[in-house]
Amino acid sequence: MLPVIDRPAIQIVVEEAIAAGIDDILIISSPYKKVMEDHFDRAFELEARLAAKGKLAEVEAIRAIGSQAQVHFVRQGEPRGLGHAVSMARRHVGDEPFAVLLPDDIMVDGGCLLRGMIDALAVTGRSVVALKEFPSSEISNYGCVAHGPIEAGSPLVSISGLVEKPKAEDAPSNLAVMGRYVLTPAIFEHLEAIEPGAGGEIQLTDGLDRLRRADGMSGFVFSEGRYDIGQKQDFLRATVELALQHPELGPNFARFLASLTPRLP
Ligand code: G1P
Repeated sequence: MLPVIDRPAIQIVVEEAIAAGIDDILIISSPYKKVMEDHFDRAFELEARLAAKGKLAEVEAIRAIGSQAQVHFVRQGEPRGLGHAVSMARRHVGDEPFAVLLPDDIMVDGGCLLRGMIDALAVTGRSVVALKEFPSSEISNYGCVAHGPIEAGSPLVSISGLVEKPKAEDAPSNLAVMGRYVLTPAIFEHLEAIEPGAGGEIQLTDGLDRLRRADGMSGFVFSEGRYDIGQKQDFLRATVELALQHPELGPNFARFLASLTPRLP
């Protein structure tokens, strides 16, 4: 629920999914996060209260989400890991491909990356994970892939291995898995088959590696627009980029930034 300018991060991520053409959203939350459900609740009373306070833009944003997508919730009773959280979606997903968006990674790209990944699955039939290059010193914060050749002009690479948070010296490449995945429902049987991995948790990465061995998997390499709002620097960068794009704040904010330029080191 951390606000970035005027929207909680979870809403930015929901709007990204909608921009990529997704109209059914399941938010997997913990028992302590009821405030998130209230945020997406289209209760008449809540809207009337916001409207009475003059918060018309907020009311409109929530209504727009309600008219473009169904937002559902499920609770992960115990924090048993990301793979376990994703497996909570099994019944809801049924037998269609689906996307997983980790909301501490926000994308400022109008849904472009996710749309590209959805299109890639439609063409290849294989699950797709988002990949971004990082220096070796940072790779141990992420899932990391071994991959086939990178072809000029194509964002897609074939993945030949996935490992969760390897030490720099053990990392198979400099491509790290970012919090966007477009998966076939076959992932669920693999998540159920795995034992707890790194940190004693059921790791999505381990389930993905089994899925890759069975069905193959693609990586979608991108470089721009991703911010980890759990990191202070990235939170600031995301705030500035979103402020510049903001229809009301943007022009004045750009002038303000320009006025600071002479003071930059
Ligand atoms: C999770 C995944 C990791 C991935 C990362 C992306 O890690 O387990 O593979 O690279 O998200 O943000 P977490 O950030 O939950 O530690």
